[in-house]
Amino acid sequence: MNLLSGNKLFIIGMPGVGKTTVAERLAVELGFKSVDVDTLIQRSEHTSVAQIFEGFGENYFREIETKMIAVVASSSDSAVISLGGGAVMRDENIQIIKKAGLVIWLNATLDTLQSRLDNDTTTIRPLLAGDVREKLIGLQSERIEIYRMISDFRVDVDGKTVDTVVDEIVAFASEPKSSPDNT
Ligand code: S3P
Repeated sequence: MNLLSGNKLFIIGMPGVGKTTVAERLAVELGFKSVDVDTLIQRSEHTSVAQIFEGFGENYFREIETKMIAVVASSSDSAVISLGGGAVMRDENIQIIKKAGLVIWLNATLDTLQSRLDNDTTTIRPLLAGDVREKLIGLQSERIEIYRMISDFRVDVDGKTVDTVVDEIVAFASEPKSSPDNT
């Protein structure tokens, strides 16, 4: 697959790694649509992710998340799609995204994640309530092998600008056969 053939890029990784920002910039670079699955969920439910968790529970959120992933994956649009950090925990979601496009994993150290989350005062992340560091360690230990296994390409984002991250992804997606970085 080549980006020019018109397809999809799914951006995965831990909360705070910068998926939405990178997806938006990458989409501009490629002339693709930018789609954020959490935003779609919030629009369809007319409320925030935090409120959905609080009012209906995580399972309900995950059901809608899967539906939204299926909807964006089946669209004919070329798109860069950022997924919530936990979307990879359902096999169904993995199957959908692997079929529909390339999966890009943004990876960062806990220090980077924590400092970015500390600076993000606008988003409430229910799964990180309490001791953020402790929660990040728990979530990362459950997820890191899945991120590694399902991704076609990994970018270690620590210390890199958004432009650099985007350039690395564009370079890979234009020539996606080899993935030496994804070890
Ligand atoms: C979640 C991450 C959030 C959001 C929800 C659950 C998770 O998205 O989907 O709060 O399970 O890690 P971000 O990764 O964009 O913070």
